[in-house]
Amino acid sequence: MTPDVSVEEHKSRKVEAYWADLVEGETGLYKAGVIKRLVDDHLRIPVRQVLDIGCGTSEIARRLAERIGSERVVGVDYDAEIIDKLRRHEWKVGIDTQWRVADIFDIGAWDERFELVFLLDILHEVYSFVGRSDDGKGGQLIINHQKGLDATYRALDSIAKVVPSGGGIVITDDILPDHNESVEVKAKNPKVLSTLKTFVEEYPSRQIDLEWTSTDTFRIPAHDFSIVLTQYNKLKNGDLQRWNVEKLEIHQYFREADYRDVFRSLGFTPHIVVGTPCGARDEWCDDFEMLFGLPSIPAKRVSVLAVRD
Ligand SMILES: C[S@@+](CC[C@H](N)C(=O)[O-])C[C@H]1O[C@@H](n2cnc3c(N)ncnc32)[C@H](O)[C@@H]1O
Repeated sequence: MTPDVSVEEHKSRKVEAYWADLVEGETGLYKAGVIKRLVDDHLRIPVRQVLDIGCGTSEIARRLAERIGSERVVGVDYDAEIIDKLRRHEWKVGIDTQWRVADIFDIGAWDERFELVFLLDILHEVYSFVGRSDDGKGGQLIINHQKGLDATYRALDSIAKVVPSGGGIVITDDILPDHNESVEVKAKNPKVLSTLKTFVEEYPSRQIDLEWTSTDTFRIPAHDFSIVLTQYNKLKNGDLQRWNVEKLEIHQYFREADYRDVFRSLGFTPHIVVGTPCGARDEWCDDFEMLFGLPSIPAKRVSVLAVRD
């Protein structure tokens, strides 16, 4: 296990291929499509100001803002290198863009208002990094679930302050299944078997509670299984560059009900789409068979548009 798991180290592991895959890969295209549908169907006020937090390349938020005729996009990331690159880019769009280095927790104190705020695949990083950064020695690898959840709630509470009535918050991320009972699963090919064994030994972010019940079947809590599903294929496919980034994270922190509860308590109406991009679904079904505990392999993605009442 690498003892060095600082936020700075994590930022520096993200290379060009990581960003290209995030935006143009299957998941990027899937999330852009679902967000467009949610916004078209449920957002009723004109969107002048857009805020993209944890913006990365800001590709999806910018394209959508342009399409709906917004005046300005403010992109925020705590990674100064990302913001520097966005500032140096020559934008050919008819929309005002502004790039700021800031942490998600700074934003609640801003006095600006944004009719649409994007949190695209950022909250799992807040959950993962704030959720384990308390030992002061930089050596704590296991993510503390409750601490990560508390950070996620705090982040949402502060973001809600910059959204006016009728405005929305969009979240995309991976999702936990509704329940966490044990499921029984068959690994359908030898490569997956060996990957799982390595994964359980080498995943530093969570102790995965996987128990082999025969040479190719195992029992595992449903939440651990959904985490394994998101992560194992980087190891299986030898994508070690991506694995080096992703192994420091857990992509799932909420069930669908948790999104509903948190947004209702903040005075928002949530609209939620849960699903799995086809390529991921096909790969999972080739690699695993659900024997017991869930009707099928759990869904991967959640897309939320929460509209302020
Ligand atoms: C997985 S990337 C997603 C990028 C982009 N939103 C997308 O969906 O393509 C997560 C981004 O969130 C940023 N990030 C993580 N924690 C953050 C925080 N506490 N404050 C601001 N940005 C953060 C990272 O630097 C990274 O650019």
